[in-house]
Amino acid sequence: MEKLYIVANFKSNMTNNEAKNWLDVFISHKQELKNMGDKEVILAPTFTFLLSFNSVFSGTNIKLSAQNLSPFDEGAFTGEVNGKQIKDFADYVIIGHSERRNNFGETDEMLTKKVNLALKYGLTPIFCVQGKDTNIPQGVNVVAYEPVFAIGTGTPDTPENADKVCEDIIANHDNLSVLYGGSVTSDNVANFTKSDKIKGVLVGGASLDPMEFLNIIKNA
Ligand code: PGA
Repeated sequence: MEKLYIVANFKSNMTNNEAKNWLDVFISHKQELKNMGDKEVILAPTFTFLLSFNSVFSGTNIKLSAQNLSPFDEGAFTGEVNGKQIKDFADYVIIGHSERRNNFGETDEMLTKKVNLALKYGLTPIFCVQGKDTNIPQGVNVVAYEPVFAIGTGTPDTPENADKVCEDIIANHDNLSVLYGGSVTSDNVANFTKSDKIKGVLVGGASLDPMEFLNIIKNA
């Protein structure tokens, strides 16, 4: 069965208490979360919460993702978290988000290094592209089309355009699942996931409210 990916990208949000409160609400719906069919729910908290989220979700069908990884392997790289370390806690890693490209100067060359290190340690990259012409490194199987104008603005791409861009991306690559991201909510998610070209959603702001994220999962 082909997966429908529903990814929560918390970005640089939540204190420890806020994360606990989020988990309390989310887990109180664990019965619904057990029966999700083909939906692959992935939570991407900041590094500081990967250990606690892992102890809550290990052995369940909820998967975890890092939001970033070091472009270097383990060693003398102060402040970096590498792929080998992440693999202890997560199965996925988000790479190539426009916020990292634009605020942290991440280049195609650096992103290729990150993808290679993710693959080396058995992490699945969720590789963000900003349009149909963004370079996609070899070995990537999950891509998120995230037009910059739609991120955090409340103005998503039109489902028709998202569908077209996802179709163009798939046409140029083998074995890719393409997700849509940018101002996804429980009200609009089905407009995207009903397309057979769009294999899921990457959700930022709306995932910070656990009830809203549960509704996105339900409506997807
Ligand atoms: P948004 O962010 O849902 O807040 O628009 C999406 C993303 O950046 O992944």
